[in-house]
Amino acid sequence: MRRPILVANWKMNKTASEAQAFVEQLLPQIDAQQEIDIAIAPPFTALDRLGRTLGGSAISLAAQNVSAAGDGAFTGEVSVGMLVELSCRYAIVGHSERRALHGETSQEVARKAVALQAAGIRPIICLGESLREREQGRTLEVVGKALEQSLAGVKAEGSDALVVAYEPLWAIGSGRNATPEIAQEVHAFIRQHLVKQFGTVAESLCIQYGGSVDPENAASLMAQPDIDGALVGGAGLQPDSFAALIKITAESAG
Ligand code: PGA
Repeated sequence: MRRPILVANWKMNKTASEAQAFVEQLLPQIDAQQEIDIAIAPPFTALDRLGRTLGGSAISLAAQNVSAAGDGAFTGEVSVGMLVELSCRYAIVGHSERRALHGETSQEVARKAVALQAAGIRPIICLGESLREREQGRTLEVVGKALEQSLAGVKAEGSDALVVAYEPLWAIGSGRNATPEIAQEVHAFIRQHLVKQFGTVAESLCIQYGGSVDPENAASLMAQPDIDGALVGGAGLQPDSFAALIKITAESAG
């Protein structure tokens, strides 16, 4: 049985004090013990404050990006070591907005994932097809290639080695989520790929779905056999809707 992972990706939203206020409203609404892993990925500027506010709660800290380089002359970048010091448990890599707006390639994503793993941080490796690619019937080809390149050099010695997030581009921020069946088809394909690369441990790796997940559609998505949690944008910005998603995800695990 895989333990689902629910992550709120705040993107470029919330200052450090807004992040603190969010958590102060959220924590009283959720159980201290959860059957699931929960994380919040705030902007870098809020990581420190959020980490202090979360304390020993059931929610851990995630970064939205990281540099593959150790340190040095990389203006504007943040290193793995900096995330380690803040006790980040996860880091998102290869989010479609990074790929589209910042030219991030799958090769770079793989380097970041390898660097994170070496420091004990779980990479959440994002990938997904565009609407055009889906309409051309190329979804599995595109996802397969992104997996092959984004997982180059990545290791999977245990179930907590990495997370893959399937995020169809047409579903992100569009209010148009993939149907559970469409998502499951791609998740099963991703699982097969992981089994080929990593062997039986792939059965214990989490594959998250992302793209317009909200409290209305989450239960049917989570009910799919290969959907092990969600990466949420919009619905993770309000304490009430994130609390509702935590409850739904926990029920799917029970
Ligand atoms: P969304 O974003 O939930 O707002 O569609 C998901 C994501 O970008 O990870």
